[in-house]
Amino acid sequence: MFEKITHRLVDLRDWADERFPVMEFWQAHLSKYYAPKNFNFWYYFGSLAMLVLVIQILTGIFLTMNYKPTAGTAFASVEYIMRDVNWGWLIRYMHSTGASFFFVVIYLHMFRALLYGSYRGPRELLWLFGMFLFVLLMAEAFMGYLLPWGQMSFWGAQVIISLFGAIPYIGDDLSLWIRGDYVVADATLNRFFAFHVIAVPLLLIGLVMFHLIALHSVGSNNPDGIEIKKLKDENGVPLDGIPFHPYYTVKDIVGVVAFLMVFATVIFYAPEMGGWFLEKDNFVPADPLKTPEHIAPLWYFTPFYAILRAVPDKFLGVVAMGAAIVMLFLLPWLDRSPVKSIRYRGIWFKSALTVFVVSFIGLAYLGTVPATPVATLFSRVFSILYFAFFLLMPFYSRWDKTKPVPERVTVK
Ligand code: HEM
Repeated sequence: MFEKITHRLVDLRDWADERFPVMEFWQAHLSKYYAPKNFNFWYYFGSLAMLVLVIQILTGIFLTMNYKPTAGTAFASVEYIMRDVNWGWLIRYMHSTGASFFFVVIYLHMFRALLYGSYRGPRELLWLFGMFLFVLLMAEAFMGYLLPWGQMSFWGAQVIISLFGAIPYIGDDLSLWIRGDYVVADATLNRFFAFHVIAVPLLLIGLVMFHLIALHSVGSNNPDGIEIKKLKDENGVPLDGIPFHPYYTVKDIVGVVAFLMVFATVIFYAPEMGGWFLEKDNFVPADPLKTPEHIAPLWYFTPFYAILRAVPDKFLGVVAMGAAIVMLFLLPWLDRSPVKSIRYRGIWFKSALTVFVVSFIGLAYLGTVPATPVATLFSRVFSILYFAFFLLMPFYSRWDKTKPVPERVTVK
């Protein structure tokens, strides 16, 4: 009986394979795609990013079934989802928690690249696609945050869109064009909805495909920063490679299970995360006549927001904030070290990376608190350190005393 079913399935696969390259795809990207055998904890986050993207799209589809994108109905429709729609609260909390978890996963995913020099040649394009994904993800989260039409949605969007007004000559017209009105209004909500539910997700999916095509064409880096394609056996299989399927498909499932446990715990026990994932002010309907006392974006934007506030001039602040992101794009060309992985780098890079991480977390915190003189001073110091990490990299990465890189990967 079992054998008969298996035969039927194989027949079906062969039938499909003659008409569509099923097996070719399976082999090229899974069963005969050789990944380095020394992947560690840090290599879970790419597949987790894909998982969160899928969760966001699926929960988003169900939210859209009951959400009403007009200034008069949006807030009440979200309350309706939370209270009256069957399981609506779960769908909404999965989506709002999913947004924050997306950034947790992406920041860890990017940090891995810093640890192991994964942005270095031949992976520059892979890195650039990743950076475009990061920028799009920020746009997606920003526009999604307007949709519940709470106080923070409204005033957050008002502050950020008005930043464009600081650009000389075209600023005022540009921010008017983005809003579609003189203040954030119904027209703004409608267009943000259109971008959030269809335009940006389509681009994200397309870019993830580009990201993976680039990855599979050059092959993965690994914690030793060694190119495994350089050492192959007589069949052309990298000596330090193992087939992605079944080894890493199974390993990634371990990551998925651990992730879902943490994700579920937050959704069920702390969905607002004390105001970090859903701000308190956003449970109050938007009121264009009443500015909240303290306007701050959600935690994943605050490092960049703190850089913006650290600069006294509004326009230069916007430039500094943009430059903070541009620096990341330039990383493949700033790093001149002869080695990729932190394992073989010297004290200069290790110290610089530590200072960078402290500055980034410091800025993230400072972006959430009111801009007191002390907070501003710290923001300035951390902003300078943030930029120094990138701008001085061509020098310290060359001066660094590196260790010899082994021929074969090390498996601990
Ligand atoms: C929706 C967002 C993203 C998804 C779904 C995604 C997915 C993936 C996957 C599945 C991998 C292979 C597994 C792994 O190495 O962890 C990967 C690798 C990689 N990603 Fe992403 N990624 C995303 C965003 C980003 C961003 C924002 C960056 C950085 C700017 C980035 C940079 C990289 C790099 C450098 C690698 C190769 C790492 C290595 O081989 O060591 N990715 N990505």
